[in-house]
Amino acid sequence: MYRFTPILPALFLLASAQSAQQPSTPTPQKTPTYSAIPVEAARQANPVKSTPESLTRAKKWWTLDCAMCHGKDGDGKGETAAEMKLKIVDFTDPATLKDRTDGEVFYIIKNGHNDMPPEGPRIKTEENWDLVNYVRSLAKKMPDAEQKPQP
Ligand code: HEC
Repeated sequence: MYRFTPILPALFLLASAQSAQQPSTPTPQKTPTYSAIPVEAARQANPVKSTPESLTRAKKWWTLDCAMCHGKDGDGKGETAAEMKLKIVDFTDPATLKDRTDGEVFYIIKNGHNDMPPEGPRIKTEENWDLVNYVRSLAKKMPDAEQKPQP
């Protein structure tokens, strides 16, 4: 992993300057099904605070690009998901994203995964972080005070 060829010393210097604060031991892989996510991406800190403004910006994209699969409220019961017979996680369950870093969620939104299409350059980087905040905000915090009555 740390095999650098001396051919590009300038690149090496750049890279080492950027990764100077990194601990030398790699973090254990907690998310085996998303093992393609680079460690660097997973460690990326979220520069956008989860403010009402951030969530409002994200909601627009969520409605346009995500709700058809993940459901308006994030329960995974969107129409397209049903049509495509996709198995989708429930973001209203706080356990779903418990072990994911913001960097991992960002990466999944940006690059897609299996049947999940990538947002890619459709949205700005900050808007991608807004969506990370939004997805996290879907987890129900209240016992069941605000939930719809069960049938
Ligand atoms: C075509 C349907 C579809 C659309 C549209 C879609 N997703 Fe997904 N999403 C999926 C599927 C399917 C998975 C599971 C992927 C897998 O298992 O590899 C997934 C996984 C995810 C995950 C990872 C969940 C986990 O397991 O931790 C996140 C986060 C996510 N989607 C967010 C979004 C956001 C935000 C949008 C909108 C920008 C979006 N998705 C749009 C189908 C979709």
